[in-house]
Amino acid sequence: MPSKTKAPTSQFVCSECGYTAPKWLGKCPDCGNFNTMQEELVRPAEQAPTRTGVSPMKAKAVPLSKIGYEKFDRVKSGIGEFDTVLGGGIVRGSLVLLGGDPGIGKSTLLTQVSAHLAQTCKVLYVSAEESCSQVKMRCERLGLSSDNLLLLNETCLEDIETELVDGQFVVVDSVQAIYTEALSSAAGSVGQVRECAARLMRIAKSRNITFFIIGHVTKEGSLAGPKVLEHIMDTVLYFEGQQEDNFRLLRAVKNRFGSAQEVGVFEMTDTGIQSVSDYSALFLSDTRGVAAGSAVTPSESGNRCMSVEIQTLIAKTAYGMPRRMSLGVDYNKLVVLIAVLEKRCGIPFYNSDVYINAMGGIKLSEPSVDLAICAALASAASDIPIDKYTAIFGEVGLTGELRPVNYADKRVNECIKTGFKRVILPAKNMKACKKYEDKIELIPVQYVTQLIKALHLRPQQP
Ligand code: TYD
Ligand code: MG
Repeated sequence: MPSKTKAPTSQFVCSECGYTAPKWLGKCPDCGNFNTMQEELVRPAEQAPTRTGVSPMKAKAVPLSKIGYEKFDRVKSGIGEFDTVLGGGIVRGSLVLLGGDPGIGKSTLLTQVSAHLAQTCKVLYVSAEESCSQVKMRCERLGLSSDNLLLLNETCLEDIETELVDGQFVVVDSVQAIYTEALSSAAGSVGQVRECAARLMRIAKSRNITFFIIGHVTKEGSLAGPKVLEHIMDTVLYFEGQQEDNFRLLRAVKNRFGSAQEVGVFEMTDTGIQSVSDYSALFLSDTRGVAAGSAVTPSESGNRCMSVEIQTLIAKTAYGMPRRMSLGVDYNKLVVLIAVLEKRCGIPFYNSDVYINAMGGIKLSEPSVDLAICAALASAASDIPIDKYTAIFGEVGLTGELRPVNYADKRVNECIKTGFKRVILPAKNMKACKKYEDKIELIPVQYVTQLIKALHLRPQQP
């Protein structure tokens, strides 16, 4: 822990109104907000930009055509999907933030990447959370060993800085566990996290060191200190998935060196994290087409389209209010779609408990999954399974009409690749998908009621 007795090099600034105080205050005396005072470094006066006089460092405006740029030097990480998400490899001298829930596999992923990089260059793994022997144990479990991979168990940023070598790769595990002596607040506080990240950024750019920084996601779902780090980083990746399921999605949220739409699919095995290239089959079950209540939708996630199965279960309400439970699908969306089915198609759900789950722990947030949810619910209500070779997508409005969705042709193409024989889609998307007509049967629908007919479902009173 940093000591509390030192020269006042920091001040506390209110994040709401900018009021400054030499000591921490629970309530800002100026704007009256609670818990907004955050510690910041007081920079020496000569570093502050001045408007008077011309400083010798003054930058000059340059015509666009005169500006040259360097091609990014990219290094392969050894994990295909990781490279894809980064935009084709690791850019030297960049700052990559890897965020995710605790226990999701961030340390495992970066240990593997470090071990691969250590085959050709020096890598430093700064483990501020676990002891060196714990990291070594993980490496043994993963079957990794290298003399080029150095471990450092240190939490003080100033001490870490002395161990850095120009041009190397450094993993910082995690940014919430390290602190700088310049600030008196505890490690993990907004001020510390922001100051440490800013310091690492300056080191990265001046010494061409590539940093991978691990950040834990807080309860609210953002990286510690609400998004305080994202603007400093070159690339921000989120590692997602459910702990019980083995599948993990790596999502680029920001990438200065590539597309921020990329998604990587991984599987957590007992020998570490592996890229999954045939990801479509992951989110489909074997009981598809046999059991009632499941429907498949091509879902667009990042730059890829994946076929995902939605399963529903309808049970008679034993007493009181009917229950609605959703996993991987927005709860409100489920409630709205149940209401649409009740009102527009006459399927009663008022005395049934409804459970819904998107397979493989994936989160479906697109509006295009609406129609597949309706199909799965109607199939469960009629106790008739939906044909195994049918995929469904489309957005459902409150009046029961179908709205067109984006990337319709990409979705149909994915269905063809995954081996589906027919796709039920909004009529308004037909034009874009006409080109696939000879490869797959396209069934356009305008209203939800037509979907029930197209699937030959006969919803009955539960
Ligand atoms: P870890 O990388 O420590 O998570 P994080 O750094 O994000 O907190 O991973 C922890 C989980 O991963 C733990 O529950 C064990 C599991 N795991 C495997 O399933 N296989 C492996 O090869 C390893 C090393 C870990
Ligand atoms: Mg960890």
